[in-house]
Amino acid sequence: MAKGLYTKRNSGRKMDEVRPMSAKVGIVPSADGSAMFETGKTRAIAVVRGPRTLHPQHLQNAQTGILRVSYGMMPFSVSDRIRPGPNRRSEEISKVSEWALSSVVDLSGFPNTVVDVFIQIPQADAGTRVAGLNAAAMALAHAGIPMKEMVSAIGVGKIDKTLVVDLDKYEDSDYHEGEGSTDIPVVVTSRTKNVALLQLDGKISIPEFKETMEMAKKACNEILKVQMEALKNIGGSNE
Ligand code: CDP
Repeated sequence: MAKGLYTKRNSGRKMDEVRPMSAKVGIVPSADGSAMFETGKTRAIAVVRGPRTLHPQHLQNAQTGILRVSYGMMPFSVSDRIRPGPNRRSEEISKVSEWALSSVVDLSGFPNTVVDVFIQIPQADAGTRVAGLNAAAMALAHAGIPMKEMVSAIGVGKIDKTLVVDLDKYEDSDYHEGEGSTDIPVVVTSRTKNVALLQLDGKISIPEFKETMEMAKKACNEILKVQMEALKNIGGSNE
């Protein structure tokens, strides 16, 4: 049940303000690439392995390597224990993350191979798919996987009549007690500013939608700076 107009954010943030971010590259020395991305209380880890020869052989593509993404929340990442293993939600997020990242990686130089990206969420406070994508993009760059451009991701949305950036769990679901706010995860490419992924859960008018896209692009520019800084500073952290 909504409590009236959403004029002041629970966290005290401005409507277009992202949560405090931090990023680190090279967190798993044995991996080909790895990174962590944190926004507020949401933390994502991404590990990249590959390119490696793809088995079974009939799945191989002689023209290009393929990207495989697996997303999962750790059992105690939220207050209710999450059952380990895949579920409908994690399968969906793995698939959409794979689509978004496949649009920027170029595996044509690695035929018959696979690049695996493992995204894990040790702590969740909404926005985990976008935090996972931010970490995954850094981990792919760290692994030296050819990329046409980077990607940065953010959740934007609408609470009552108010447009907001980077919803936390309270704003995403608790504020409306089950009904849910309008939640729009967006992935923006770094150079061409194309939208590599857009999902929409809830209702929004076309003018409001256009405004949220502008807010998302601005937030993604800020996120890109944090990602690039972390990539320059491999092994260190950027807060
Ligand atoms: O995390 P994201 O916003 O990408 O996806 P969501 O499905 O909209 O989930 C929003 C939030 O709900 C998650 O980030 C978690 O904080 C929470 N959640 C949960 O408490 N239990 C679950 N089984 C799934 C999500």
